[in-house]
Amino acid sequence: MLSQEENELITRVGPGTPMGEVFRRFWLPAMLSSELTEPDCPPVRLRLLGEDLVAFRDTNGRPGVLAANCPHRGASLFFGRNEECGLRCVYHGWKFDVDGNCVDMPNEPPESNFKHKVQARAYPARDAGKVIWVYMGPHRPAPELPRLEWTLVPDENVYAHKRFQDCSWLQNVEGEVDSSHISFLHRSTGRNLGDATDVVQTQGAPRFSVLPTDYGLLIGAQRSASESTDYWRMTQFLLPSYTMIPARPGAYIDFTGAVPVDDDHMIGFTVAWRPDRPLSAEDVAKIESWDYVYAEVDQRTFRPVRNRENDYLIDRQVQRTESYTGIKGIRDQDHAVQEGMGPIVDRTAEHLGSADTAVIQVRRLLLSLVADVQAGREPYAAQHPEAYRVRSGDGMLPRDASFEEIARAYTAPVSAG
Ligand code: FES
Ligand SMILES: [Fe+2]
Repeated sequence: MLSQEENELITRVGPGTPMGEVFRRFWLPAMLSSELTEPDCPPVRLRLLGEDLVAFRDTNGRPGVLAANCPHRGASLFFGRNEECGLRCVYHGWKFDVDGNCVDMPNEPPESNFKHKVQARAYPARDAGKVIWVYMGPHRPAPELPRLEWTLVPDENVYAHKRFQDCSWLQNVEGEVDSSHISFLHRSTGRNLGDATDVVQTQGAPRFSVLPTDYGLLIGAQRSASESTDYWRMTQFLLPSYTMIPARPGAYIDFTGAVPVDDDHMIGFTVAWRPDRPLSAEDVAKIESWDYVYAEVDQRTFRPVRNRENDYLIDRQVQRTESYTGIKGIRDQDHAVQEGMGPIVDRTAEHLGSADTAVIQVRRLLLSLVADVQAGREPYAAQHPEAYRVRSGDGMLPRDASFEEIARAYTAPVSAG
C-alpha cells in the first residue's frame, strides 16, 4: 500500500513531474521501425510522457522526433512535407531537420538571419531491434542505448510487437513482475501438459526472492515441483519499466516494455528473439499464436481486437469449462484486469501480502529513483548500457539450491553482440 502522495509521485509522468524526469533519463521504445516505412515516408503522430510529438524518417533514413507543434506559430508538423532531409511545416514552409535545426524559412527575407535563431524541440531517435528508441532527457550527447540482447542481434532474429493499453504504465509493470497471478488469471482448466506449466497452474503461492542489480531487480519465484525439486522462474525488472519473463524452452526469449503515453495510457512492446539464428515464418506463426501473449491488434491503429468496449469478448461458458477467465489470450486477460482497475489504481486501498513482494520492491526502487533524480543523482542503469545484457529463464532445481547461486547465472552478461 502506498500513500496518496506516493501513488501520485510514482505514476504521474508528464513534463516536470518527478517520475517523468526519471523516465527522461532512459532511452524509451517509442514505435516500430516499420511504422516509418522508408526515407521521406509520411510522418507519424506520437505521444510520450504527456508530450505530443511527430516522428519522421529523413532522406538518409535517419529517424527524427520533433515536438508536434511548429515553433513558428504552432501548426501541427504531422501535416508536414517530408522532403530533402527535413520536415517542412505546411503553414508557412519552415523546414526542420532531425536535430531540430531550422534549415529553411521561405517566408522571411533571404538576408534575414532569423532561421539560425529558431530551433524545433527535437529528441534523439535511433533504430535498434526493429524498434525506434527516443531519448527525451537532458544529456547531450545522449547516453548509449541499453545493450539489450535483442537490439544487438540481426533484425532477422527479432519479432517486435506494439499495442496500446488504456491504463497507467505501472499497472502493466506490476502485472509483469507478479508471478502469482499466472496461476489464476492465465489458468486453462483443461490443460495438463505434465511440465512446468502444470506446476505454475497448480501452485498458486510462489515464494519470492528479490535481488537488487545494476539494471533494476532480479525476481525469483519458487514453486514446489516434487518432494526434492523446485520450479524457479527468474524475471528481470529493468529500469525504467521493462521486464523479461522466462524464455520458452529451447525457443524464444521475451521482453516487454510499458512506455507511458501519458499518466493513464501506455504503449506495450513485446519482443521475442533468437540469439542464434533468424526467425523462420514458422517461428513467427508460433510466436503469434503462443497463447496470444502478442495481443491481436488492428494493424493500423495498434488497438487490441479484444478490448474494454467489447468486454474483451469474455465467454462465460468457456469460463465455466475451459479457462479461468473465459477471455482468449494471455495479453488480453492482462488487459482486462489492468485496465479494469481504472486509469490509475488507488494504491491506498490495497491489501498486499507476501505474494506481492516483487510489486512492493519495484515500487520502492522507483520511489528511490525519484528521490535520486530530484537530488541531482543520475540513475546508474541509465548510464551503464552493459548492465542490460542479461537473459531471463526458468528451471527445475534441487530443493536446497540457493537463490544467490541461481541468481548468478541470470546476472552474468550474455554473449550476443
Ligand atoms: S506555423 Fe509552421 S511555418 Fe508557420
Ligand atoms: Fe499476465
